Amino acid sequence: MTRLKLIKHAPGAPGLRLVGLGPCLLPCRGLFKLKDLLDEHAFWARNRNYANLRKLLAKSSVVITLWRNKRMVGFGRATSDGIYRAVLWDIVVAEEEQGQGLGKKVVEAVLSAPEMHKVERIYLMTTNRKEFYEQLGFKACKDQSLLIKTS
Ligand SMILES: CC(C)(COP(=O)(O)OP(=O)(O)OC[C@H]1O[C@@H](n2cnc3c(N)ncnc32)[C@H](O)[C@@H]1OP(=O)(O)O)[C@@H](O)C(=O)NCCC(=O)NCCS
Repeated sequence: MTRLKLIKHAPGAPGLRLVGLGPCLLPCRGLFKLKDLLDEHAFWARNRNYANLRKLLAKSSVVITLWRNKRMVGFGRATSDGIYRAVLWDIVVAEEEQGQGLGKKVVEAVLSAPEMHKVERIYLMTTNRKEFYEQLGFKACKDQSLLIKTS
């Protein structure tokens, strides 16, 4: 039988980041599985190395992982100042698991974290999934511009 488990990690995801904790708080090479999920299913997040994935997790206020048995099938994270501004990042569900409500579960879990509860404005950027986020209450913003500075 396949079992689905959603994990709300502590801020900075120390268990996942340092010892690869997965479902039932057991080490299961979580960081490798995160890299595989992003490499395969998140076009903007391919080829991130392990050291940088650890940094990314350490600086994330909210980290959610979704597991089918020992396989990571979903991920989402946010950075937040806890009161005025927060941003969702890297929301992804493995392709073969899409269309079953799992993406919605991941986003709802991110939004329900204490670090997000009272935040005045939550931002996100999406290339081609605007409709997905609109279903979750986000609205396209016509009166602001997105500006980007790359390193
Ligand atoms: C975007 C993504 C996370 C959605 O996950 P998912 O598990 O397929 O979405 P869900 O099944 O939870 O869908 C939730 C709702 O959004 C709708 N939805 C999902 N994708 C949609 C799309 N592309 N267009 C319109 N509606 C969509 C679903 O119909 C569903 O509506 P319902 O609740 O009325 O049935 C997933 O498609 C994904 O990982 N894509 C690749 C990575 C990506 O682009 N991530 C977004 C980065 S900003």
